[in-house]
Amino acid sequence: MNVHDSEKIAGIFSETGYQEGNGLRDADIVVLNTCNIRHKAEQKFYSELGRLRSIKEINPHLKVAVAGCIAKQRGEKIFKRFPYVDFIFGPNNIDSIQDWIKDNRQNTDNPPILPLSKGGKGKFKTVALNDNPEYHTKILPVKREGRVKAWVSIMYGCDNFCAYCVVPYTRGRERSRPSRDIYNEVESLAHQGFKEVTLLGQNVNSYGKKLNEGIDFPDLLIRIHDIKGIERIRFVTSHPGDFSERLIKVMKDLPGVCEHLHLPVQSGSDKVLRLMNRRYKYEDYKRKIDMLRNVIPDIAITTDIIVGFPGETHEDFRLTINAQKEIEYDGIYAFKYSKRPDTKALGLPNHVDERIKSERLTKVLSLQEIITYKKNKNLEGRIYEVLVEGVSETDINKLTGRTRTNKIVNFHGDETDIGKLVNIKILEARQHSLYGETIT
Ligand code: 5AD
Ligand code: SF4
Repeated sequence: MNVHDSEKIAGIFSETGYQEGNGLRDADIVVLNTCNIRHKAEQKFYSELGRLRSIKEINPHLKVAVAGCIAKQRGEKIFKRFPYVDFIFGPNNIDSIQDWIKDNRQNTDNPPILPLSKGGKGKFKTVALNDNPEYHTKILPVKREGRVKAWVSIMYGCDNFCAYCVVPYTRGRERSRPSRDIYNEVESLAHQGFKEVTLLGQNVNSYGKKLNEGIDFPDLLIRIHDIKGIERIRFVTSHPGDFSERLIKVMKDLPGVCEHLHLPVQSGSDKVLRLMNRRYKYEDYKRKIDMLRNVIPDIAITTDIIVGFPGETHEDFRLTINAQKEIEYDGIYAFKYSKRPDTKALGLPNHVDERIKSERLTKVLSLQEIITYKKNKNLEGRIYEVLVEGVSETDINKLTGRTRTNKIVNFHGDETDIGKLVNIKILEARQHSLYGETIT
C-alpha cells in the first residue's frame, strides 16, 4: 500500500517536471513516505529524519516533506521536533502536492525549482492532513517501477477497527473508487504492456459497499477480467469475515485470477480473536479455507500472524501454532504485537512480556520455514507458468519471475523473455525461492 502511495507521489512530481535525483546533497526535495503500523517502522523514520539535519546543513535548499501515516497521526508535532520539515501530508492528501508545488515555485514559467523559503523561516511550512472526502475520486498520475506488473488501488481506508491497528485512524473510513476509474486505469496499464495487476485495499472483499453502484468485489473482478492484455489478476488484502463463497466461485471461474489468497488469520485462539475484534472464530476461518481448497485444490494460501497480543496465554499461542500446522500455509508474515497510539488494545490488561513475544515469534517463524520448504520441495519436477519480471537481484545471470501461486522462480533465460509467460520446470526448491529451467 505504502509503496504504491510512493509511486503516486513520484507520479505527481514527475508530471510536474521533477526527476529522481542521485543523492540528497544536490536534491531540491526529499519526501519521506512513512508507515506506523508497528513501533519499529516509526522509530526507523525518526532516525532517518534526524539524519537529514546534517544534510540540510550541506544543502540548505533541500525541502523536506513527510508523507504517510506518521504524518497523519503525529501532524504538526513533527515541525516542533524537526523544524527543518517543510511539508506534512497524510495518505489521503497526496493530491495536495500539486498545490504545494504551485505555491512554492518561484515562477510557474520557470523550470520547476522550489526556492528557499522567502520572508523568514517557516513561511512555507504547510500541512495537508484533512479527511479529503473526494480523495477516492481523484485520478492521480503514477510512476511505476517496471513494466510487467502494477498495483491498482480499488479502495482506501478501513472500517474494521481491529483492536491493534492504526489504519482506520490514519487512512480514515473505507471508501471505494468508482469502478469506471479502476477499469480505465487497468485498461491503460494493458495498453502500456503491463501483464499483471494487483488490486489493493485494506479489505478488498467489502469493495463497493458505500459506492451506490450496485457492484461488489466479485463483480469488479468479472469486469476487469474482460480487459485484453492483462494475463493475471491478484488482490490484497482480504478480511476473513467478508470472504465469500461467491468470491471463491468467481476465482475458480475466471482464468485470469491467480491461485493465491492472502487471508490474515492473526491468531488461532477464539479468545484472542475476540479481543482483537476480528469478527470470526478460527473454525469459521478454517471452514472457508477448506471450501477454497475443495474448489481450487492447488491454491497457495498465505497469512499474517500476530504473537503476544495482550492476554495471549501459552494455551492461546499453542492454538496459533496448531492453526499454522493444520492449514500449512505457503508463507506467513509474523509480527510481535506492537502498541499503537489510539488503538483499543492499548487499554487491554495482561500485556505480554517482550521476551515471551520474541520467543513466540521465533517459534512461529521456525515452524513456517519447515512448512514452506516442504511445500516447495513438493514442486520439484513440476512445470509452472512463470511471468518473467526481470533480472534476478541476487544473481545477474538469472531471470526471475513468479508462478500464478506467487512463488519466486529463478532460471537462466533470455532477457527478451522479460514480460512474457514462460513454462519452467522446477529443478530445485530453496527456502524462499525455486530454481528451474525453461521448457520449450
Ligand atoms: N502489532 C503487530 N502487528 C500488527 N499488524 C497490524 N497492526 C499491528 C500491531 N499493532 C499486522 C497485522 C496486519 C499486518 C498488515 O500487520 O498482522 O495484518
Ligand atoms: Fe487494520 Fe483490521 Fe483494517 Fe486490516 S482489517 S487494516 S488489520 S483494522
